[in-house]
Amino acid sequence: MCGIIGYVGPRQSQDILMSGLARLEYRGYDSAGIAVIDGEGGLGMRKRAGKLAVLRDDLVDRPMPDGTTGIGHTRWATHGGPTDVNAHPHLADDGKLAVIHNGIIENFAELKSELVGEGFSFRSDTDTEVAAVLLGREYAATGDLAQAFRAVVARLEGAFTLLAMHQDSPGVVVGARRNSPLVIGLGDGENFLGSDVAAFVEHTRNALAIGQDQIVVITPTGVEVTDFAGSVVEVEPFEVTWDAAAAEKGGWSSFMAKEVAEEPEAVAKTLLGRIHEGRVEIPELDGMDDLLRGIDRILVIACGTAAYAGMVGKYALESWTRVPVDVELAHEFRYRDPVLSPNTLVVSISQSGETMDTLMAVKYAREQGAKTLSICNTQGATIPRESDAVVYTHAGPEVAVASTKAFVAQITALYLLALHVARLRGTLSAEQLADNVAELEAIPGKIVRVLETEQERISQFAHWMADTRSVLFLGRHVGYPIAMEGALKLKELAYIHAEGFAAGELKHGPIALIEAGQPVFVVVPSPRGSGDMHRKVISSIEEIRARGARVIAIAEEGDAAVLPVADEVLRIPLAAPMFEPLLAVVPLHIFAMGLATAKGLDVDQPRNLAKSVTVE
Ligand code: F6R
Repeated sequence: MCGIIGYVGPRQSQDILMSGLARLEYRGYDSAGIAVIDGEGGLGMRKRAGKLAVLRDDLVDRPMPDGTTGIGHTRWATHGGPTDVNAHPHLADDGKLAVIHNGIIENFAELKSELVGEGFSFRSDTDTEVAAVLLGREYAATGDLAQAFRAVVARLEGAFTLLAMHQDSPGVVVGARRNSPLVIGLGDGENFLGSDVAAFVEHTRNALAIGQDQIVVITPTGVEVTDFAGSVVEVEPFEVTWDAAAAEKGGWSSFMAKEVAEEPEAVAKTLLGRIHEGRVEIPELDGMDDLLRGIDRILVIACGTAAYAGMVGKYALESWTRVPVDVELAHEFRYRDPVLSPNTLVVSISQSGETMDTLMAVKYAREQGAKTLSICNTQGATIPRESDAVVYTHAGPEVAVASTKAFVAQITALYLLALHVARLRGTLSAEQLADNVAELEAIPGKIVRVLETEQERISQFAHWMADTRSVLFLGRHVGYPIAMEGALKLKELAYIHAEGFAAGELKHGPIALIEAGQPVFVVVPSPRGSGDMHRKVISSIEEIRARGARVIAIAEEGDAAVLPVADEVLRIPLAAPMFEPLLAVVPLHIFAMGLATAKGLDVDQPRNLAKSVTVE
């Protein structure tokens, strides 16, 4: 939520800021702005409500002088609506200081009245302007931005990444972070700050991860990081493993279309280096064997789509490791006084690694003495750094706001974790381990088949159903979280009422929703190896069909039992029942994208949403 970039170096900064903001726009897209210290030592600033394109056009119509020190911001509004005035940067010290912010300053109202009492005036409704005015006041007293920052952060409560520059200190950008993301990009004679590496990956892949409660000062040739008290601290270097092209749309109609097409690769890359001679060995978990043998409970915490991945993972983790597993929404977990022990392994799942609800839950779990392991897609992110261990998903950068390829990568990582722990605990035989590994390795090729054979038909349905007002999704066992994921994607992309249910729950209420023509997607378990679940789901289909539902079944190739009961059948390749979610979700992602496209909606940037929810 909110994307931030800062630049100092020899180059003119406007293009660098604007292209960085374009890569960060998925973090918020209701207004954008930049500020630069120009060659004459003046501070220029331009900000506009609306998507980045509005600002870009404005800069063409009304160019402003360029300069080699600059900051830029793309906003997802929290305090104050998305207007030109509320857009960042905010200015202080008579327009000589520019500040951008990601997060929420919780005590802004009391700080504001203090400042108003001192005679300061405000132009916007934002919490950020309070930090700007405070910084201006401190800078006026000391003439040192870092020192001013130290005084200001001591007054702020809440979550923030703040970046500032002052026209009297050209060639310097200062940043501070608490519970909001900030990374440093190290260039040759130039340096960058960004909410994530996407801000600067086209210029450098050398990065530094800043810790909590730290202040960073960048100049063209130097980077200094201190804690809030001013003591210099060591920061962790890392190399970004993907290049700028990976975060570009290429020839695709949308990032989402590209990312759905990358689902096979997301699974394959997440498996890479973690399977040796048919056994799962996750190198990142070296040295944790005793701990993983000793755990007596696994608690999975996440939000949204990542939580659905966790729900799928629960079935495999519990079945293969025989350790009891619970899955909980991170924001609910933290506030209910949960019972944790040193033998509880808390597994957090987050594509961005910055979701505030999940981050706070991880911190809480650690404070309570639990061991924490994060499954994350973003290097340098906060959640892995706050956890005892991390297993990265290697889905590559996910730019579309709705998560797709990260979801299949998260399930893959959970299955790898389950097989790793099952091997350590001896709960699966060597043969069972090898069979499951073979199933996992076959998944990328099978997803490719779904994309090749069903994509066009699903997009056609989506066009036919463009006027539909409500769609229901049913699933059972591992198909249940997939039904919920299908419904969430449809809600967020196509703004259609959609709900996912456990098929067995139908008769306990939801069947009342069925009327003539109601579209219902049903994830049908394999008739092979799923006990009598297949028969039961077929019965559920018959029950809703009898009440007029229009059934679209997602069923494995060769399952003839669905033909007489479903109106349409989408086929997925044969896989052991535990692995079907990785295939069945693909048609649902394509469907939601197709329906949103048919309605003329922006599938990459749905309304009201932002990727990486860094506020609670
Ligand atoms: C839905 C979606 C969200 C995220 C959720 C968690 O398509 O993308 O529900 O899954 O906000 O985000 P991360 O995984 O970054 O913690």
